[in-house]
Amino acid sequence: MNAQNTSATLRCIEVECRTSFSIDQRLYVCPACGGLLDVDYDFRSLENPGESKAVFKQRRMSDAACDLSGVWRFRELLPFVTDVSSIVSLVEGNTPIYDAPHSASYAKLESLRFKHQGLNPTGSFKDNGMTTAVTHARMLGAGAVACASTGNTSASMAAYAARAGMRGFVFVPAGQVAHAKLSQSIEYGASVVEIEGNFDDAMRIVRDLALEADVYLLNSLNPFRLEGQKTIIIEMMEQLAWDAPDWIVLPGGNLGNTSAFGKALYELHLLGLIARLPRLAVIQAEGAAPFYDLFMSEGSTLTPVADPRTLATAIRIGSPVSWKKAMRALDWTRGIVATVSEQEIADAKAIIGVDGIGCEPASAATLAGLKRLAASGTIGATDSVVAVLTGNLMKDSGYTVDYHSGRLTLGERKIESTYANSSIRVPADQSEIRKILKI
Ligand code: F0G
Repeated sequence: MNAQNTSATLRCIEVECRTSFSIDQRLYVCPACGGLLDVDYDFRSLENPGESKAVFKQRRMSDAACDLSGVWRFRELLPFVTDVSSIVSLVEGNTPIYDAPHSASYAKLESLRFKHQGLNPTGSFKDNGMTTAVTHARMLGAGAVACASTGNTSASMAAYAARAGMRGFVFVPAGQVAHAKLSQSIEYGASVVEIEGNFDDAMRIVRDLALEADVYLLNSLNPFRLEGQKTIIIEMMEQLAWDAPDWIVLPGGNLGNTSAFGKALYELHLLGLIARLPRLAVIQAEGAAPFYDLFMSEGSTLTPVADPRTLATAIRIGSPVSWKKAMRALDWTRGIVATVSEQEIADAKAIIGVDGIGCEPASAATLAGLKRLAASGTIGATDSVVAVLTGNLMKDSGYTVDYHSGRLTLGERKIESTYANSSIRVPADQSEIRKILKI
């Protein structure tokens, strides 16, 4: 990659605007019309897909820092960096794809694969996007970064800010973030601000703050986050020998991933790296489903959900910032949106555990959604499907223990422990224990 003459620009996604700006500017939305921004490239030097695939593969044998990262190994597809030595990396990406036979039969599919983004350095897919956004922050000379978060973005940002020697400010909804996630931000040295409000309040406040104070905003509104998250798809396609599946299923919250996946697929197809486009299926929790409502209404404006509710706290979001890019992703991929109940998420999570994989609640929305979509015939039993598990099982251990011990509730509503594997209490006596366990 010739760093010095990067073709990258920021470009407004609004068709009647399309104004472009230098990537040296600190912009989150288009100054001309307020639209969302893409990082846009001239990809003309990449006209030989076979050559690109060979380069990506070859790098898996390399020990160079930028080749060890499962994000930067694909740097020709996100060529905005002017100096590879400025990259801030924790060797992110490189996440496995697993066959999941129990989950497949639960959804009545012939087979199912999970790409487990929870096996990233801080335990979620956010690391793919944080390495690129913090690298851009460093390119701009930012001394401080900030985000609003339901827990994973903040954990990831805190870690990458620490690596880059930047101050990190995280704004989280008070009392609504899983402990493990909070502990990460604290341990990595970020300033943690618990807002008396929900995620959408935190997002609004940090957006305003970033316009006035000298902090660089690292939510997925920041287009450089999405450039890194594109590599979830790029790596997935490489793992599938560039043979695109019929469906890619993911949970939707703030809709950064949906937006990034759409852009990745569009670009891979444009460049001839994949021959056809998979369809995206975005799954939301019933109590926090503004994107589903928009999809079903066939309208053109998203109506926020004022008081979003779900035990899958990662996706407890009523006003997703990237909904326009997410709609574009659906347009490009003939994508769909579905919802699932709290009960369905909880049961699906337990089934993913039975496959020996495990994930956090938001990620399990994928299997719950697949079960519904297969039952309705939208997804065929023999279709090839890859679902993305976005966060690690250990991110929300409280939820897991509560489910298996019959204590999981949302407000007044009890969630049934359909697949409970509860622990048992025994006297400290071996023969008694053997009797009880029949071993
Ligand atoms: N899954 C997990 C585990 C998440 O943490 C998130 C988002 C999502 C799914 C939804 O992804 O926002 O791209 O649609 N978490 C953000 C956060 C909001 O602050 O950690 P999305």
